[in-house]
Amino acid sequence: MSTAEIQRTDQEILDRAAQDDIDAIAAYNPDPDAVLHEVQDQADALFTWDYEKGSRPRLDKLYEKAKVSQWNAQTDLDWSIEVDPQKAFNIFTEVSNVNTGHWTEHPDSPAKNWGDKEWDQFSVESFAWRLSQFLHGEQGALLCTAKIVETVPWIDAKYYAATQVVDEARHVEVFNKYIDEKIGVRYPVNPHLQLLIDDIINDSRWDMTYLGMQIMVEGLALAAFGLMHQVTTEPLLKKLLRYVMADEARHVAFGVLSLQEVYQDMTAQEVRERQEFAFEAGIRMRDRLLQQEVWDRMGCDVKHAVKHGLDIPDEDQIFSQLLFSKIVPNCRKLGLLDAGDGWLRDRFTEIGVIELEHLEDTGQEYDAFTLDEGTPIPAPH
Ligand SMILES: [Fe+2]
Ligand SMILES: [Fe+2]
Repeated sequence: MSTAEIQRTDQEILDRAAQDDIDAIAAYNPDPDAVLHEVQDQADALFTWDYEKGSRPRLDKLYEKAKVSQWNAQTDLDWSIEVDPQKAFNIFTEVSNVNTGHWTEHPDSPAKNWGDKEWDQFSVESFAWRLSQFLHGEQGALLCTAKIVETVPWIDAKYYAATQVVDEARHVEVFNKYIDEKIGVRYPVNPHLQLLIDDIINDSRWDMTYLGMQIMVEGLALAAFGLMHQVTTEPLLKKLLRYVMADEARHVAFGVLSLQEVYQDMTAQEVRERQEFAFEAGIRMRDRLLQQEVWDRMGCDVKHAVKHGLDIPDEDQIFSQLLFSKIVPNCRKLGLLDAGDGWLRDRFTEIGVIELEHLEDTGQEYDAFTLDEGTPIPAPH
């Protein structure tokens, strides 16, 4: 069977009629008050009897680095710092391009008649929403990395993934504490983020966990934390993000270093399936950035707001594009952009993020994010 005969359509990949299907994008979390959410994990747990440590030197180096880079969310951060939500959040909203002419002046904008009071409220809601999605995404990473410990066949990767499980527990803890004690507003998980994490956990192929979580979700998180770290003047959040970023840079590197080896031996059809998965994840994350729950809480028509968000002209898309600044170069490094007929390149072009392909990939970048005193943090691209 040729590759062309078994390619899937957008309908099959995304489970909806069209990429920009407003009804599907504006969907809500069907059960926002639930305490538990169950996902079927289809993968086999693997033992290995090959215990030779360091047979994959780059993963071994990452593991040794992780062991000496642990921090404590309770004691390494000054939780006595008082946070003025309005001050901390307004700056971020201004920089994040939400408050541009497309929203403030465009005749079709659902926010065109808002005054300072509404924009101030929007800033707090939007910031609380972002941090809430980080929190839920961190729990997704916690579960996915525990899955990698079970499913990956290499001992060096099991060792490293075990350190990442501890990292992610700290991240869940620290974001939850910040939201709880300093903001007091939280949102349930966005349905597109949940859909993506469910797909990652549900998939039986162990390398898909890496692609979905380490490359796509954590790649976006690393870029988002970097932007927020750069613009916020709130000292507790700034330090918290700095600590989390040092870990996340290692996590993304773990994905790049592991998948490079796996993809080398795959058939064209197997690589195509990874391209489709990367595209699906890209769309889910674009959809999640439209923050429909915030527009709803602000009293706007959600479908109208989502459509208006999708219609933002290219010159105002800079912020959303930057969130893909780690994903696209890493997909390029893994050979996913141009494999086969360059299908993923075409799809990333359609969603306006292909220009980022030549930025630095994250395979080795984690050293630059180390927590050693005096090390300047790399600026977001
Ligand atoms: Fe994390
Ligand atoms: Fe992570």
